[in-house]
Amino acid sequence: MSRQFVYLILMSVSLLFIYSCKHSAGELIGNGTGNGGAGGGGSSTPCDPSKIYFQQQVLPILVSNCAMSGCHDDVTRKEGVVLTSYQKVMATGDITPGNAGGSKLYKVIVETDPDDRMPPPPQSPLNAQQVQIIYNWIQQGAKDIVCANMCDSSIFSYSAAIQPIIQNKCQGCHSGTNAQGSVDLSTYTSVKAKVADGKLWGSINHQSGYFPMPKNGTKLSDCELSQFQKWISSGAPNN
Ligand code: HEC
Repeated sequence: MSRQFVYLILMSVSLLFIYSCKHSAGELIGNGTGNGGAGGGGSSTPCDPSKIYFQQQVLPILVSNCAMSGCHDDVTRKEGVVLTSYQKVMATGDITPGNAGGSKLYKVIVETDPDDRMPPPPQSPLNAQQVQIIYNWIQQGAKDIVCANMCDSSIFSYSAAIQPIIQNKCQGCHSGTNAQGSVDLSTYTSVKAKVADGKLWGSINHQSGYFPMPKNGTKLSDCELSQFQKWISSGAPNN
C-alpha cells in the first residue's frame, strides 16, 4: 500500500505542477486512487511517476475511445487514422513529439466545437485526466515506453482498481446511447450486472464462448486480472 500511495502522491503533484502551467486548475480531475487503469507490461524498468507510459496509459485510452468499429480501428481507418498500436498512432495521428499544441491528435480531443471534436458526439469527450495523460505523453517526446509494477494486485476495491481500469480501457466503447454490443459499463450497477451473468470475467479472461475484451486492445495484465478476480470473489462490492 505505502509504495503505491507514495507513487500516487508523486504523480498527483507532478500532474498538478504541469497542469497548472497550461490550464486552469479547475479542470483538474485527480485520480486519487488505484492504478488509473494502467496494466503490467513486459518490462523490468520500475515505473517513474513523472513519466507517461504509452503502452499502459495512452494506448488503452485511444483504443477504447477511438478504435471502435466504424472509427479508427484497423478495418475502418477513418480519414486514414488508425489508433491501435504505437506504430500506427505515430504514422497516422499527426503527432509532433514535444509539442502537444502542434499535434492533431491532441488538438481534436481538446476541441470545443462539437462538430470537430474527437471522439464526436454522442460519445463523451475524454475526461480531463485522460486529456492530461495524452498531453504529457506528447510533451515528453511521444515515446513507446513500458514499466514494471504499475499495477498492485493487493489493491482490488471497485473505486481504486476496477473502476479506473474500466474507465480507461472499456467505457469509451461501453457507454452512452450506442454502447458496443449493447453492454453498458458506465455505472457500478451496470458493471455488477455483467459480473452476475459471468460475461465480464469470461470476456476479460478470454474464455471460450465469450467475446475477448478489450476489443482491439491488449489483454489485461495478469495483475489486473488478479484485481478483478479478487474483487469478484469478494462479492464485487461497491467499495
Ligand atoms: C474498441 C471497442 C471495445 C472496447 C475497448 C471494449 N469492448 Fe467490450 N465489446 C465491444 C463490442 C463491439 C462487443 C460486442 C461483441 C463483439 O463484436 O466483439 C463487446 C462485448 C462485450 C461484452 C459481452 C461479451 C459476451 O461474450 O457477450 C462484455 C462483457 C464486454 N464487452 C466487456 C468489456 C470490458 C470489460 C472491456 C474493457 C476491459 C471492453 N469490453 C472493452 C467493444 C469493445
